[in-house]
Amino acid sequence: MTEEGCVFLKDIKEMGFSTKAVHAGQNPCPVTGALSTPIYQTSTFVFENVKQGADRFAGKEDGYIYTRLGNPTQKALEDKMAILEGGEAALALSSGMAAVSAVIIALTKNGDHIVADKALYGCTFSFMSEIMTKYGVEVTFIDTSEISQIEKAIRDNTKIIYFESPANPTMKLVDMKQVADLARSRGIITVIDNTFMSPYFQRPIEYGIDVVLHSATKYISGHGDVIAGIVISKKDIIEIIRTIAKDLGGVISPFNAWLLLRGLKTLAVRMDRHNENALTIAEFLASHDKVKNVFYPGLPSHPQYGLAKKQMNGFGGMISFELKGGYEAGKKLMDRVKLCHLAVSLGDVDTLIQHPASMTHAIVPVDERLKAGITDGLVRLSVGIEDVDDIVEDLEEALR
Ligand SMILES: Cc1ncc(COP(=O)(O)O)c(C=O)c1O
Repeated sequence: MTEEGCVFLKDIKEMGFSTKAVHAGQNPCPVTGALSTPIYQTSTFVFENVKQGADRFAGKEDGYIYTRLGNPTQKALEDKMAILEGGEAALALSSGMAAVSAVIIALTKNGDHIVADKALYGCTFSFMSEIMTKYGVEVTFIDTSEISQIEKAIRDNTKIIYFESPANPTMKLVDMKQVADLARSRGIITVIDNTFMSPYFQRPIEYGIDVVLHSATKYISGHGDVIAGIVISKKDIIEIIRTIAKDLGGVISPFNAWLLLRGLKTLAVRMDRHNENALTIAEFLASHDKVKNVFYPGLPSHPQYGLAKKQMNGFGGMISFELKGGYEAGKKLMDRVKLCHLAVSLGDVDTLIQHPASMTHAIVPVDERLKAGITDGLVRLSVGIEDVDDIVEDLEEALR
């Protein structure tokens, strides 16, 4: 990093979101002048002598050792994401699930207890209910949007309160400040999966949340070509997670870190378009006579519309809905769309449609799934950035 670069970037935290998304964490290469951050496609880093190698291992000297322990392309991504989320530090990993699992494993031990929302991404639910319980960590699944349920579930050994807001795929919101205040008063760490909103629309650290994580596969990448995850928090918490994550081994590749750096530069413009398109489509669906329910936090009919306006800067691109004809009608719709792709994942520039009960949440036992509000008829739409009239026309045609 050049001195000039440092001077310019000194005040980056005070700049607007889009400026941070473009510039934070990245400077032109001081040797070649390359504007784009190089992809340091290397597994190892050469030491000048034995003392230097030993000092780096002992933490007496900064510098790179081996890409599983850190890499300059990964570092640029972590610095950018920490600034975008308003955190002190970040850790990039090979998938959203690598982030979820590293956070939970690092912050709990045998005999501890987790309070988690019952509406969670399927693999997060099964990681907690199947894997963590096997290693002696108990999990109580409740509705974290009701503070009284959290109060009731907390025990002396509760270490983490974990939730998504909006939740995948029900679009239920959780009052972040209320949960953070309660958790802090009891010495419990709060963890939020902020995948659906991205830091452009929601910055949980500003509300007192301790740890923010993302499936960076989604809006952070934006282009449907990467699997990755990222965690943002205070420096000391990130160091605890980093120490565990290096042994778990879910390291992000330098190339994928670079793809995320590139994706992040356009996060704000992409998110604005996702939001604008989703609002139009949610309104279209809500007024359609074949549609029973639409779950989108930007509709005044959403039960937490007020909370959405309070803690989010936009409503995002994710919509869930049920058709009056239930599962059969939903299945027909998903089989008939042409522009919208029938595919899991979300947050891509392409519009994606899928059936949570048989796809992303198939791993959740039926009774738990229904308790979380994930009915057989629920269809999830990740609205892309195409021309909205074309998406509406595709849905209209398929509904007909
Ligand atoms: C909300 C949420 N969190 C976490 C994950 C896991 O992310 P990944 O697929 O990148 O491991 C997903 C994946 O769909 C998700 O939707």
